[in-house]
Amino acid sequence: MRGLLIAGLACALVAPAAMARSIPTSNQRPAPGNEEPQTPIALAGYNDHVNYELQCAGCHLGDGTGAKVSDVPKMKDFVGNFLKVEGGREFLIRVPGMSMSALNDAQLASLINWMMSPDGMAGASVPEHFKPFTTEEVAAIRHKAMLNLPGTRTELIAKMRDQGIEINDGMGD
Ligand code: HEC
Repeated sequence: MRGLLIAGLACALVAPAAMARSIPTSNQRPAPGNEEPQTPIALAGYNDHVNYELQCAGCHLGDGTGAKVSDVPKMKDFVGNFLKVEGGREFLIRVPGMSMSALNDAQLASLINWMMSPDGMAGASVPEHFKPFTTEEVAAIRHKAMLNLPGTRTELIAKMRDQGIEINDGMGD
């Protein structure tokens, strides 16, 4: 019994030290050839596709299919419909994945325009007279917090239904 107690105590004492080993020590240095500090994505100058892969595809998947299981709506062939209803244009910029991404305003404008482009993931859902987003527009919208995202989205989807738009967002049953 006493032995067990001592062994238990020893484990408890050793465990934090074992975990601490994964925390870098102050004298830890980058591996040879890897000394350059990483360039923040907002300064890296990647194209829209790469920015999408790095900042969005983890949730939305490479082609924007999304995943109902994690509540990520389908953007492919659908997301352009938000531009057809009042408030939808702002909504696209204010969703957290967009507004809180590490991309700067110009990169976000460029990225959403790329998604809405004729060969982009939004496909035929984009309205005929799509007006591209500007950096200034994104800058003005992105910091307006959206307090009730599900409620706002439900209203926008209802407005689409009123227009006879088929709701093919991958979230239905
Ligand atoms: C951590 C997961 C995650 C990341 C990363 C993410 N999103 Fe999202 N996105 C979601 C979810 C979940 C929703 C549904 C609304 C909500 O809950 O935010 C959504 C909604 C959206 C919408 C509105 C579409 C709709 O049908 O409601 C757009 C547009 C969008 N995201 C674009 C992007 C872009 C562009 C990026 C990259 C800059 C991005 N998201 C990054 C999870 C993510």
